Amino acid sequence: MTRMIVDCDPGHDDAIALILAHRHAEVVGITSVSGNAPLAATTANALMVSALLDVDTPVVRGAARPLVGEPIHAALVHGESGLGGVDRIAHERTITSDDAVGYLLDVAQPDITVVAVGPLTNLAHAIERDPTWVKRIAGISIMGGSTDVGNATRVAEFNIFADPEAAAKVFESGAEITMCGLNLTHQFQTSDALTERLRGAGTPKATFAAQIFDHLHDRMEALIGRRASAMHDPCAVLAITHPHLLETEPRAVAVELAGTLTRGMTVVDQRVSRRRDQANAKVAYGIDAERAWDVVMESLDAADPESPNAKNP
Ligand code: RIB
Ligand code: CA
Repeated sequence: MTRMIVDCDPGHDDAIALILAHRHAEVVGITSVSGNAPLAATTANALMVSALLDVDTPVVRGAARPLVGEPIHAALVHGESGLGGVDRIAHERTITSDDAVGYLLDVAQPDITVVAVGPLTNLAHAIERDPTWVKRIAGISIMGGSTDVGNATRVAEFNIFADPEAAAKVFESGAEITMCGLNLTHQFQTSDALTERLRGAGTPKATFAAQIFDHLHDRMEALIGRRASAMHDPCAVLAITHPHLLETEPRAVAVELAGTLTRGMTVVDQRVSRRRDQANAKVAYGIDAERAWDVVMESLDAADPESPNAKNP
């Protein structure tokens, strides 16, 4: 079974990614980072998801602020708590340690992939402390960046924009990187129909996920008039657990740090002549969304028995 560490900023889609990862991989550990909400909130949410799943996965607290500048958050979408609209689950769980960087360096193994679905601050600190780290893990699957539109700005995606210097260090590190940017995740959208299936399932996981989908739909309806939301972070898990569901291409990716309008943009070299020899990442361009939803909904206890892919997602 695939082994992974999930570095995250829960966050509604992070929570779904954690549930999916625990269904299809051995999750060695969870590291938290400031992002969608402040570090205390994202760490509390990671602990709450581990309580929901009743797993003993260690939760290790990470960075409270980016390498440069002040932390930014996404309360407009995720609420002040990072999991707005979701009933809190009472539990007694606590973090295993508050040294995510030391943890990432200590548990590194050739068969462990780091799935990074928040700002890349923890990973950048690990690379700073030990540049060989990236060669001691299998690779890094990133939800972040974009080959086209941004969301934090016209051209920058939130996870990169929240800590561009960290993202630049990761893309320059020589790690085996898979990048699932907004160009991909926008192809993987939730719907009220999926929410209804979750409510119908009625298990604790499905009910938790239904609240997540409902909250995201309420926020998207308010912001863009549409009851659907890109389910970003699970894509970075699927890239590792179900790579056959994604189409990737080798690309050279760099992070803009200085641009007045473009800071935090992932600048992807899409010139045909430059695609292979200078590539530092596998960039995802396509997803089999129907099969991917079969996998995700099954992990949420809401498989569609009528799906033609039910037996072999
Ligand atoms: O831009 C989407 C990303 O930012 C996702 O990881 C979401 O959880 C937020 O962190
Ligand atoms: Ca996230």
